[in-house]
Amino acid sequence: MKNKFITFEGIDGSGKSLQIEMLADYLSELGEKILVVREPGTTVIGEHVRNILMDKKNNTMSYKTEALLFMAARAQLMQEKIIPALENNYTVICDRFIDSSVVYQGIGRGLGEKFIKELNKFVTENIEPDITFFLDISPQNAWLRKIGVQTSDRFESENINFHQKIYLGYKKLIVENPNRIICIDANVSPEEIHTQIVNATKEKIKTLLLI
Ligand code: TYD
Repeated sequence: MKNKFITFEGIDGSGKSLQIEMLADYLSELGEKILVVREPGTTVIGEHVRNILMDKKNNTMSYKTEALLFMAARAQLMQEKIIPALENNYTVICDRFIDSSVVYQGIGRGLGEKFIKELNKFVTENIEPDITFFLDISPQNAWLRKIGVQTSDRFESENINFHQKIYLGYKKLIVENPNRIICIDANVSPEEIHTQIVNATKEKIKTLLLI
């Protein structure tokens, strides 16, 4: 099993970016070919779509429009980057993927998990990650981490109730997908989080090789 597909999920402020960088460096040093991508975005079309989605001025955007724009960016990313990379034996690491849509649009926006999962299947052609790391930090702690950081896109400016709903949504998905989603304690130092991720990746690769 050379072409692994690894995704990272978590609420806003859970520290995914640094962990993705650390895992990518670790796997590169082992000689693996790595492609790191993020959602929404990475492709030229996807980055245009991202700007529309994140812009706080777009406060009249309907939830259905929002869901379909995320799907559009994902469809482009699959076709242009993820599928070709997996076919060429790259390990792909993606910052957010299908689970983000299920929790943010399906649960957070109330569009329904079943409907979002169907849309996901359509755009991904049923390709699922082999491993998904959920960086587990409470919305309160994530908020504390962000104090003093000048950010605030359309999602970050949502209230704490929204982020709490997202957090609980992820917890539900972990229970429903025990073989794919690995919950990582993200309240510890970056090095300790990285160690948990590396150990879990090694374990998972062993299992995948045995299948
Ligand atoms: P980003 O700045 O990439 O945030 P983060 O660093 O937390 O990943 O913004 C992505 C935002 O888009 C984030 O708030 C989650 C949201 N999102 C969805 O609502 N649905 C989706 O399908 C995806 C991929 C992201």
